[in-house]
Amino acid sequence: MAALTFAELATSCIGLAREVPVFGGGRRRYVNLDNAATTPALRQVRDAVDGFLEMYSSVHRGTGYKSLVSTEAFERCRLRVLQFVGAEKNGATAIFGKNTTEMVNKLSRRFGLGRDDVVLLSDAEHHSNDLPWRKVARVVRIPVDHRGAMDLDQIETELHRAHGRAKVVAVCGASNVTGYQPPIHAIARLAHAHGAKVFADCAQLAPHRAVNVRSEDDPEHLDFVAFSAHKMYAPYGVGVLVGPKRFFDQGDPDHVGGGMVEMVTPDRTFWSPSPDRDEPGTPNLLGAVALARAIACLTEVGFDAIADHERRLTAYALKRLAEVPGLVLYGDTAPVAGEDRIGVIPFNLAGRHHALLAAALAWEGGIGVRHGCFCAHPFIAHLLHVQPAEAEKTIDRILASDRSGIAGLVRMSFGIFNTEAEIDWAVEVLTELSRRGPQGRYRLVPAWGEYEAEDCPVEIDPGLGI
Ligand SMILES: Cc1ncc(COP(=O)(O)O)c(C=O)c1O
Repeated sequence: MAALTFAELATSCIGLAREVPVFGGGRRRYVNLDNAATTPALRQVRDAVDGFLEMYSSVHRGTGYKSLVSTEAFERCRLRVLQFVGAEKNGATAIFGKNTTEMVNKLSRRFGLGRDDVVLLSDAEHHSNDLPWRKVARVVRIPVDHRGAMDLDQIETELHRAHGRAKVVAVCGASNVTGYQPPIHAIARLAHAHGAKVFADCAQLAPHRAVNVRSEDDPEHLDFVAFSAHKMYAPYGVGVLVGPKRFFDQGDPDHVGGGMVEMVTPDRTFWSPSPDRDEPGTPNLLGAVALARAIACLTEVGFDAIADHERRLTAYALKRLAEVPGLVLYGDTAPVAGEDRIGVIPFNLAGRHHALLAAALAWEGGIGVRHGCFCAHPFIAHLLHVQPAEAEKTIDRILASDRSGIAGLVRMSFGIFNTEAEIDWAVEVLTELSRRGPQGRYRLVPAWGEYEAEDCPVEIDPGLGI
């Protein structure tokens, strides 16, 4: 069979032709520019899951034929994940869980760190790669510039200052706010020189660029990576954590229960080796099948083609957005197909609240974007120069159930299916919003910090029959 082409894959995303209600009583084809949050599913993924349901059964403990097939399928999915990040020959294991957030929580707890241990983070991390570490160690934050880039000398300085107590350097593979890709392998070299391990949060990187953890004897290898299937066209509720099997073979698991023990007596427990030790309970087999199928499709098309498409789109969007009167771009604003960024673009429109802008893009243009702080409050505060006193006032208002004062941005983020025509449409709507303001009537709901379109159908029916 001929190899899957990029164009075939791009048009395989489900729901691209779907129309949604818009201001004025009509309907428009939905323009999804919110892929950094969640991507649509691939038809190939849905077909693989649907087809597999015929054989779906219990994994690991069943002796029936369907159980054997299900167990084999689950382990093949694990191998697929390991191959995807170049870790299959590294003595590594892949642990399946819910999402990246759960995987970072697991990793942070599995390190067995104490309060004197240091974890270095960039100041641009998603909360999922920040808050779990705060719970288990002393976090040292490295300042970033407007793109989210750290000064490598500063990482080195902090590693020195930690006097061997720096155990982990945790950094994203790509920022979910600006799209910037930190030089994770150069960072790994620094970390390893000081005896620290590296965790790369690849939630944003994995859907867009090839991830290669490299061999363990390479000083630039990545010790641990995690990512989420729902950002990779496989929204069936699975995330993975990849790291050395010998690391996960040791220590106490963070969650305990069935399926992860060798032997239990009334007062003693003998944990299974990895990966079972970290997968208590019945795993999400269909989620693993979906992710593995998505990986197979993305790999078949190739990340060069995916990156090419996205770079072109990003450069085009940066050029076109700069033409919108009053639009302020954040991060790297140069309209070039940069090597070190993925297709995530944050912006604001002078004089328009980010929540109102996002609501109007949706209701007047049928365009889906994200607004607010994108689970990266410290980075947004840095980008918007929010002063501590101002942040304190915002906290007081939030405690009084008013979330309307949170400083934020609007973000558009691309997937394999987006087109220049969609960007043109977004630019047209933004230009109208800039020139004339929203045409619909919007009501601020302070408790949510969101604007509601007053004439949008109140009843939103997912049509599920439930
Ligand atoms: C950089 C980054 N890390 C972690 C996460 C958390 O991923 P999940 O919501 O799948 O747990 C996200 C989600 O947006 C992200 O963008």
